[in-house]
Amino acid sequence: MAFDFATPVERRHPSGDRPFHWPSQKWHRYGDDVLPLWVADMDFVSPPAVLEALRARVDHGVFGYGLVPDSLRETLCAWSERHYGWAIEPGWQLWLPGVVPALHLASLALTEPGDGVLTVTPIYPPFLRVAERTGRLPQQAAMAEPAAPGEPWRLDLEALEAAITPRTRLLLWCHPHNPTGRVWGRDELAGLAELVERHDLLVVSDELHCDLLLDEGARHVPLAAAFPELAARTLTLWAPSKTFNLAGLTTACAVIPDAALRRRFAAVVKGLTPDGNVLGLVAAEAAYAEGESWRQALLGVLRSHRQVLVERVAGWPGVTLSAPESTYLAWLDLRQAPALAGSDSPQQPLLERAGVALSDGADFGTPGLARLNFGTTAAQLEAALARLDKVLKA
Ligand SMILES: Cc1ncc(COP(=O)(O)O)c(C=O)c1O
Repeated sequence: MAFDFATPVERRHPSGDRPFHWPSQKWHRYGDDVLPLWVADMDFVSPPAVLEALRARVDHGVFGYGLVPDSLRETLCAWSERHYGWAIEPGWQLWLPGVVPALHLASLALTEPGDGVLTVTPIYPPFLRVAERTGRLPQQAAMAEPAAPGEPWRLDLEALEAAITPRTRLLLWCHPHNPTGRVWGRDELAGLAELVERHDLLVVSDELHCDLLLDEGARHVPLAAAFPELAARTLTLWAPSKTFNLAGLTTACAVIPDAALRRRFAAVVKGLTPDGNVLGLVAAEAAYAEGESWRQALLGVLRSHRQVLVERVAGWPGVTLSAPESTYLAWLDLRQAPALAGSDSPQQPLLERAGVALSDGADFGTPGLARLNFGTTAAQLEAALARLDKVLKA
C-alpha cells in the first residue's frame, strides 16, 4: 500500500471554514513567515489504520472514563517480542499520559528528596529539569564530542562516572539519544550497565525513538533486554507518539518487570495523572497492531531526508553534522560557522535571517548547536534548506 508523505498538510490554518482553532506548538509559536523545524512532531498524517480506529471511536460519541484494554497490553507484548526480541508481560505495563510525566513520576517514586538524578548532556531539555522540579539534586555528565567532523557523539564513561556521588540514585537515560540521534553501541551500553550495577543506581530508559532506527537492518535492543541483570532496576518508557506521530494524544507506557519497583512507581502515579486518554489508547493499539507497513514507508522517507540534509550541510562552511542513526532530528554544530560569528545562539540569527525555526542547543545543555527536525515533507524541507543556504553559505 502506498502512503502519502509528500502532500503538505495545512497545520497553520487547519480547520478551514470551521469556527475552531487547532493550534500546534510547532506551527503557532512563530509568525506565518517562519518555517518551523523545531519541536519533535512530524508534518505527516498518522497511519490510515489509526485514523480508521479513531473515527470509529469518535462515532461512538461517548467519552467517559475508559480502561486500558487487555488487547492493547497484548499488542504491545507482541510488538516488543517481534521488534526487540524482548518477551514482556501485560502486567508489567503501566499506561500513562506521556513520557515526560513518567520521568518526573519516576524521580518522585524511586528517589528521596536531595538524592542525585543523573543524566548526560546534550539531552532532550525536560531531562535537565526533572531533578529540580522534584526536589532532587541535578547531576550531569557531558558526552564526548565527535572525534572528527561527522564522527558520532559518544558516551563518555569516565565523565559519567566522575559525575556520580554517593547521593546519586537515578540515571535518566535516552536510548536512542535525542538530540544526537545516536544508537548506542554495545560497548557503550556494556560500560553503562557495569557502572549502573557497581553504583547501585536505578535507571529510567526513555526509548521513545526506538522504532525509528534509520540504518538498514538496525534493530533496537531495550536496555533491560540487552542486560537482563539490569531489568530489576530499570523502568523502560515507550510510546507510539514519535513513531506514528500521535504526540497530542498523550499516551505512553512504562514497562517495569520488577514487581517491587512497579508498586513503588504505581503508588506515586495514583492521583497525579489522569486515567488513560480514550482516544490515545485506541490510536496506540491500532498503531502497534496495524501500523507496521506505514512505519516502514516512513523510514524510507526519513532515510532519504537524512541523505539530503547531510549533503546540504556539507556545503555550509564551519557547520558539521554527525548523521543521525535514528529518528527525524539532526544535531548541527554551528559553533565554527563564520556566517554566525559573534552570536551566542545559532537559533536566533537563523530565525531572524533565514526565517527557519530550529531548537536551540543551549536548552539541551550545549550552547552553539541546534536541532533540526526533518520530519516533514520533502518540499518543506527543501524550502527550509534553501533559506538556510542563503545565510550559511554566505
Ligand atoms: C526523548 C524524549 N522523551 C520524551 C519526549 C516527550 O514525550 P511525551 O510527549 O510523551 O511526554 C520527547 C519528545 O520529543 C523525547 O524526544
